[in-house]
Amino acid sequence: MIRIGVIGLGYWGPNLVRCFSEMPDCKVTAVCDRDVERLVRLTDRFPGVRPAETVDEVLDADIVDAVVVATPTQTHHAIAAAALDRGLHTFVEKPLAASSAECRDLIRRAAANDLRLFVRHVFLHSAPVRKLRDLIDEGELGDVCYVSSTRLNLGPVRHDVNALWDLAPHDISIILHLLGEQPTAVSCTGLAHLNRSVHDVCNLTLHFGNDKLGIVHVSWLDPHKKREMTVVGTKMMAVYNDLQQEKVKVYNKGIDAPSHSSDFGEFQYSYRYGDTYSPWLHESEPLKAECAEFVRSVVDGDDALTDGTNGLHIVQVLEAADASLHQGAARVELDGGVMEPQLEAVVHV
Ligand SMILES: NC(=O)c1ccc[n+]([C@@H]2O[C@H](COP(=O)([O-])OP(=O)(O)OC[C@H]3O[C@@H](n4cnc5c(N)ncnc54)[C@H](O)[C@@H]3O)[C@@H](O)[C@H]2O)c1
Repeated sequence: MIRIGVIGLGYWGPNLVRCFSEMPDCKVTAVCDRDVERLVRLTDRFPGVRPAETVDEVLDADIVDAVVVATPTQTHHAIAAAALDRGLHTFVEKPLAASSAECRDLIRRAAANDLRLFVRHVFLHSAPVRKLRDLIDEGELGDVCYVSSTRLNLGPVRHDVNALWDLAPHDISIILHLLGEQPTAVSCTGLAHLNRSVHDVCNLTLHFGNDKLGIVHVSWLDPHKKREMTVVGTKMMAVYNDLQQEKVKVYNKGIDAPSHSSDFGEFQYSYRYGDTYSPWLHESEPLKAECAEFVRSVVDGDDALTDGTNGLHIVQVLEAADASLHQGAARVELDGGVMEPQLEAVVHV
């Protein structure tokens, strides 16, 4: 039985307490928040769970084997590092930390103590994303040309991080997973309208090898809620709309370029308009799937898909995108598979 402590009882913490409490192989033994009202509300709902107002009370009492960090991003590193140093497996809300240096430090501490470090990139455990990845792996879509993703809503507005760090980790994690590679460069524009130092709207472009492209548009300042991703392949196209009943649709549509060049080439493109189908998805609550995957990785002693390295890859893209955002959409190079931002190589455009 794995004993779990959940730190941070804002929006996500209580959901994580619920999921871990419903699982057979683990038990939530402690919860922590600085806000006493939140602590009381939670322990009223889950009697028997020990409340703590400080992180150290949870880490030092020998009542947990693993901790869940669901506090604001700027606090992730300090809390996760303290947990790993106490020999506790650690599950961290996305993004793993506020910088790639912090992520590397956490990965090092986890490895030094042979502990599991897990990041909550929820969509990688969801049925629609698994289906998209299968469609790509099975060659159904052909070669992927580009993936574009839109994540919009009116709020919730955050003050601790901009829309890029708040919303885009989802899109970036999905795109890297689908393409199976890291970008070679990124550029990002945005608008800080409500608060001059926090961008509300961001447009991120990810450049991959073989001219593949990722496009991400995120905003908490939009009249519509939209969660849509399009994957355009050389054979077929797929659209994942997270707000629809039938979340994934595959379109047998495309444009075939003429095999030879000609002055009239434009007129020789052949447009394909074929069937559209919606594949069956084995739907389950992604949050539960994630919690189960964390517990499995702790029990089996092997790393999960969304381990520290996966978390680092996403933070490296966010960091490079942030650098671009603050340098007028400059192209920021990343070091291919290793994903090291090379800020000295920034070219102003
Ligand atoms: N995976 C997802 O889908 C998703 C979505 C949104 C947010 N998030 C991430 O989840 C994390 C938490 O987000 P949220 O919306 O639940 O935040 P929140 O602001 O609603 O709650 C954070 C809680 O942490 C507590 N806290 C802060 N510092 C603390 C400390 N040192 N010790 C004890 N308690 C402390 C606060 O009192 C608060 O109750 C963030 O990192 C965010 O990026 C993940």
